[in-house]
Amino acid sequence: MSNDADFIYVDEAQGSDDTGLGTKEHAYKTAVFAIQKHGENIKIQLRKTSEEEYKDISGAAFKKAKNHVLESKKIVLTQDSTLPEAKKIKIRESINRRDTRVKISGWVHRIRIQGKDMMFIVLRDGSGYIQCYLHGVLCHTYDAITLTLESTITVYGIISELPEGKQAPDNHELRVDYWELVHKAPGGDEAFTNQITTETDPSVLLDRRHLVIRGEKASAVLRVRSAVLRAFRDHFYSKGYAEVTPPHMVQTQVEGGSTLFELAYYHEKAYLTQSSQLYLETCLPSLGDVFAIAESFRAEKSHTRRHLSEYSHLEAEMAFITFDDLLDCLEDLICDTIDRVLSDKSIADLIYSLNKDFKKPERPFLRLDYKDAIQYLKDNDIKKPDGTFYEFGEDIPEAPERVMTDKLNRPIFLCRFPAEIKAFYMKRCKDDPRVTESVDVLMPNVGEIVGGSMRITDLDELLRGYQREGIDPAPYYWYTDQRKYGTTEHGGYGLGVERFLAWMLDRHTVRDCCLYPRFTERCKP
Ligand code: 4AD
Repeated sequence: MSNDADFIYVDEAQGSDDTGLGTKEHAYKTAVFAIQKHGENIKIQLRKTSEEEYKDISGAAFKKAKNHVLESKKIVLTQDSTLPEAKKIKIRESINRRDTRVKISGWVHRIRIQGKDMMFIVLRDGSGYIQCYLHGVLCHTYDAITLTLESTITVYGIISELPEGKQAPDNHELRVDYWELVHKAPGGDEAFTNQITTETDPSVLLDRRHLVIRGEKASAVLRVRSAVLRAFRDHFYSKGYAEVTPPHMVQTQVEGGSTLFELAYYHEKAYLTQSSQLYLETCLPSLGDVFAIAESFRAEKSHTRRHLSEYSHLEAEMAFITFDDLLDCLEDLICDTIDRVLSDKSIADLIYSLNKDFKKPERPFLRLDYKDAIQYLKDNDIKKPDGTFYEFGEDIPEAPERVMTDKLNRPIFLCRFPAEIKAFYMKRCKDDPRVTESVDVLMPNVGEIVGGSMRITDLDELLRGYQREGIDPAPYYWYTDQRKYGTTEHGGYGLGVERFLAWMLDRHTVRDCCLYPRFTERCKP
């Protein structure tokens, strides 16, 4: 007696050659594919509609399928030498290359087979998507009948605008006259679409992020990220800032000892940097205004949707400025960067595809003092988990900050935090020495995306700052020296690039806004 495992199953109505496994639960769509995949010595059970029971394939149908595979292997495509030479292009150039013969290489993003003689492939090369139309013999080759998603191919042909009523990316289509397989991706249980499905567990998706980033949404986020980084840089260069690249391996802390990653540095103790700020400050007398886009590292114990262990930190530092100048610079950075990014139509399209309600923030941003935020929480009955109100001097944690930000629903400069809840380097306000010239930028849905401040200029005040935070001043000699060799009013800020993107692109978590997120217990791929 035979059992199910002896058979290969083909369901011509609901099976799939791309994701099917040849089992009863995950049948293939065609006998041709089953033979191609498992060879000729198989027993096929087939049904034509989903209502039918599976039956042995008829001898004639099996022979036809076998011949189809054999015939397909005999077909060799050749290029028509009378056609004009194809120009190699990227998909992003295709609009400007319509009606000329081109050659495009990429990954098979989607396949649609229509009858025996028509095949539509959406090709992706990272710069865009293009629909390719294959007809006749081009769809009959062995490579064509066994083509899988994520295979790499090169297509040759002419791009023409689509007639009205038909739809494809950029409203055009490449009519293929010749094509070549570069490499075939696996089908069956290893098929791309079996690796990533709507049911795949989020932690498995993170293990397979190298495949996830091929998806339309993930790649759109990464492309906008690239445009945003460029716009930040263009903003700074247009204002005369110099870019610096400070070290990541350091022996000083910036934002408190509890989130330091320690490492063995030869025979000494060192850390992964929490912020490049202290180094940027040392560059002011050398280069003037400076900025850096560098990785910062935080051993965050909290498992929230806005915390990463490694994140991209955009930091800037300016000399001879006031606190008001600092706030103006920040507002300008955010608004100008958004204008620059939106001025590229292809990037603007991606932004609106991810966040259809995106609106540029209006200037001026709301400026709210910390003490008024404490009052706001009271007035709006936003309390601590123990039922009491937040009082002056207490840190406003993520949850109430988010409630307030979402209620106000606009960018907020939250200013003048008490010295005791902020870092050692922050300058106190002249009119109220309990508080500092500090600012957090809060955005709806995300909360804090920027932390900044004016820095202590006075040597003795800085020494008191180290003391308050229990920091040994010895390793900070180079930072302290800035207050000896020509001190000045100066300030700066740090912006979390992933948080900025999470806000702009309306992503649920910062983990979706970087290439390979690092967070508690996740350091792969
Ligand atoms: O507020 P923070 O800790 O400020 C600093 O590091 C200053 N030294 C920056 C400066 O003045 N040059 O961090 C700045 C920003 C935060 O507002 C947030 O956007 C981001 O860095 N950030 C994080 N992003 C993701 N994951 C984390 N664990 C983050 N910690 C901070």
